[in-house]
Amino acid sequence: MRALVWHGKEDIRCDTVTDPGIEDDRDAIVKVTSCAICGSDLHLFHNFIPAMLPGDIMGHEMMGEVVEVGRGVNGKLKKGDRVVVPFTIICGQCEQCQRGNFSVCETTNRKKHLADKVFGHATAGLFGYTHLTGGYPGGQAEYVRVPFADATHIKVPDGIPDEQLLFLGDIFPTGWQAAVQCDIQPTDTVAIWGCGPVGQMAIRSAILLGAKQVVAIDHLPERLSMAEAGGAVTINFDEESVVERLNELTNGKGPEKCIDAIGMEAHVTPSQPDTVVDRAKQMLMMESDRPHVLREMIYVCRPAGVISIPGVYGGLVDKIPMGQLMNKGLTIRTGQTHVNRWTDDLLRRIEEGQIDPSFVITHTVGLDDGPEMYKVFRDKQDSCIKVVLKP
Ligand SMILES: NC(=O)c1ccc[n+]([C@@H]2O[C@H](COP(=O)([O-])OP(=O)(O)OC[C@H]3O[C@@H](n4cnc5c(N)ncnc54)[C@H](O)[C@@H]3O)[C@@H](O)[C@H]2O)c1
Ligand SMILES: [Zn+2]
Ligand SMILES: [Zn+2]
Repeated sequence: MRALVWHGKEDIRCDTVTDPGIEDDRDAIVKVTSCAICGSDLHLFHNFIPAMLPGDIMGHEMMGEVVEVGRGVNGKLKKGDRVVVPFTIICGQCEQCQRGNFSVCETTNRKKHLADKVFGHATAGLFGYTHLTGGYPGGQAEYVRVPFADATHIKVPDGIPDEQLLFLGDIFPTGWQAAVQCDIQPTDTVAIWGCGPVGQMAIRSAILLGAKQVVAIDHLPERLSMAEAGGAVTINFDEESVVERLNELTNGKGPEKCIDAIGMEAHVTPSQPDTVVDRAKQMLMMESDRPHVLREMIYVCRPAGVISIPGVYGGLVDKIPMGQLMNKGLTIRTGQTHVNRWTDDLLRRIEEGQIDPSFVITHTVGLDDGPEMYKVFRDKQDSCIKVVLKP
């Protein structure tokens, strides 16, 4: 089959590889009808989470048709079923899965020893997302093997196009969880840093969850326009001070809730000198991630507020103002998304027409164009916001 394969830093190719087959009774094989490139894939593209190996298949946002099931799937899934595959591989049975903490499933990370060493405790297996999370082949491919398939799936009905359903596997529940973790009250201002696909989903989620005001921050005009169309007030950080404008919009009090939808690769610009220092430290391997947005959020958040972090961080960050964080009594909530915790509710909202997540798609191409599209998405060329691939 054809698949997008990681060969090294900024080197992803569309290769012919061996078709996946059933390896375990609980496996299913899914023929991928649509998949997408995620902001998280860019961190791997740049090798900022250095745990990929040449030959690894990329991709963790995919959907398609079940073409084969193992005996242990026990009728939970059958040939011909239409499924979205969550990016988190879950067993459905361990203590964490029972609690709905799916992204920290205790069973599915088959490289547990490695992850235990790096994180203290292993987290769930993830598709196409380094050997710290199991080294499982991803779904930017014609076929994907889904381990623990009896639990690791979201069944979806016919009659709704792929484009409206695909993001149930990652960015839609990710934006949703980021907003839910803010415990939004009708009097709240929710400020969202980053208007990429995750930020866009967080904006719409915060509005659905009843925020008084949503403020979205970025510097790319097309992303700010999309945020505005979704109901947000926007701030372009190239043109004005984020802190001053947020205080202005909240009568000097600061936003009650702050969401970091950027993660480890905050934009580097001389107008924010700490980002230049972070970049230098990153190059000297003195710091792995660039935490500018965390600093800004902690500074501007209203005391007793909440900081929600869906943006991915990989390792160590410097100069986090613990004094501000502690004295202001802020709460930090974070995590890889517990996808299946939210998807029944979100599928219902799509079916009812409350939201159509396909609004975020700007590019649809074949798998062969995938490697080029990584660059287009990374460089935000051609007003690119979200790329869907059709294997
Ligand atoms: N927690 C999860 O389960 C989960 C799931 C999916 C994605 N993610 C993470 O979410 C993050 C965003 O993903 P995405 O697909 O939207 O990525 P993206 O790269 O398309 O979007 C990031 C956006 O942030 C903007 N930005 C950069 N620096 C900024 C700053 N200082 N202030 C304001 N905006 C700034 C960029 O211009 C860009 O538009 C990534 O870190 C990704 O890994 C997490
Ligand atoms: Zn993702
Ligand atoms: Zn589990």
